[in-house]
Amino acid sequence: MNTLDDIVAHALAEFAAISEPAKLEEAKARYLGKTGQITEQMKTLGKLPPEEKKTVGAAINAAKNKVEEALNARRESLKRVALEAQLTSEALDVTLPGRSEQRGGLHPVTRSLERIEALFASIGFAVADGPEIEDDFHNFTALNTPEDHPARSMHDTFYLQNPDGSVADKVLLRTHTSPIQARYMQAHVARYGHLTHMPEIRIIAPGRVYRVDSDATHSPMFHQVEGLWVGEDVSFADLKGVIADFLRSFFETDDLNVRFRPSFFPFTEPSAEIDVAFISGALKGRWLEIAGCGMVHPNVLKIAGIDPEKYTGFAFGFGPDRLTMLRYGVNDLRLFFEGDLRFLRQFA
Ligand code: PHE
Repeated sequence: MNTLDDIVAHALAEFAAISEPAKLEEAKARYLGKTGQITEQMKTLGKLPPEEKKTVGAAINAAKNKVEEALNARRESLKRVALEAQLTSEALDVTLPGRSEQRGGLHPVTRSLERIEALFASIGFAVADGPEIEDDFHNFTALNTPEDHPARSMHDTFYLQNPDGSVADKVLLRTHTSPIQARYMQAHVARYGHLTHMPEIRIIAPGRVYRVDSDATHSPMFHQVEGLWVGEDVSFADLKGVIADFLRSFFETDDLNVRFRPSFFPFTEPSAEIDVAFISGALKGRWLEIAGCGMVHPNVLKIAGIDPEKYTGFAFGFGPDRLTMLRYGVNDLRLFFEGDLRFLRQFA
C-alpha cells in the first residue's frame, strides 16, 4: 500500500507546485491518463486472487478519488487566481466622472449659408453647384469678361501649375461663383431650350472662391452666394424686391435701409453694388457693401444659348462671410478661417 500512498503524496505535491493550467493537465495525465500511475495500478487488479481484488480495488479507488479531488481543487484555485489577475489589470474606477458626448457645432458661415439657402428656397430658388477648379471659359469668357480685363491678371487669380512648373492651360481656382451661372444656363438650355416656353431659371449657388487678397476684410479663400433668375419679364424691380426682402429676413429686422449703387461688372448691365445700413444698433447709419448685382448681360445669355430678346434675368453675388460678420458683430474676417475653437464655440 506504500506505493499508492506515495503516488497520492507525489500527485498532491506536484499539483500544489503547478501554477499554469496547461501544466496541471499534463500532470493529471501522468496519474489518471491511459498510462498514468493510478491507471497502471488498476491494471494490476486482474491478476489478483478474487478475495484480494475487493480490498485492493477499494484502496486504489480511494487513492484515485484523492488525486481527482486535489486536481479539481487546484484547477479551481488557478481559475480564481487568473480571474483576480484579470480583474486587477482591467480595474475600473467607477467613481470617475463619465465621458459625456462631445458635441460639435456648425461653423458660423455654414449657419449663414444654410439660412440663406432656406430663405431663398422659400421663394422658389433651387441650390446649384459648380467646380472650384474652373476653366478660363466659364470663369471669364462665358461671363463676357474680355482678355485684357484686370481680373484675369496673375496678381489677382490663382492659376494652376502644370507638373513642370509652367502655368496650366487656363485652369484656375474660381474667382467668383458666377461661372455657375454660365454652367447652369448651358445645362438648362441643353435640357429645355427646344421648348416654346423654357422653364424659368431660379437658383442660388453658394461656394468657396479664391483671390490673391488678404487683410481684415479679405481672405484669399472666401465664400459667395450667387443668385440667378432668368425668365420672361424678369426686371430690375424684381431684383430689388428679392434682395430687400432677403436682407430683412436674414437680419430679422425691418430697421434696414438697402441701397443700389451704380457699378460695373462685365456680365451684368446695368450693374449695381448693394449696400445696407442699419437704422438702429451698434452699426447704425454706416453703409456697408455686401453684394454685386445687375441684369444679366445680353452677351452672357447669348453665349449660353438663351435668346436675350425673349428672356431677361438678374444675377447677384453675395459675400456670406461679410453677412455673417454683420449678423454677429465680428470685425475680422480671418477669424472665421483660423479654426480657433475659442472663437468658433461662441456660435455653436
Ligand atoms: N461675381 C461678382 C464678383 O465676384 C459679383 C456679381 C455676381 C456681380 C453676379 C453681378 C452679378 O464681384
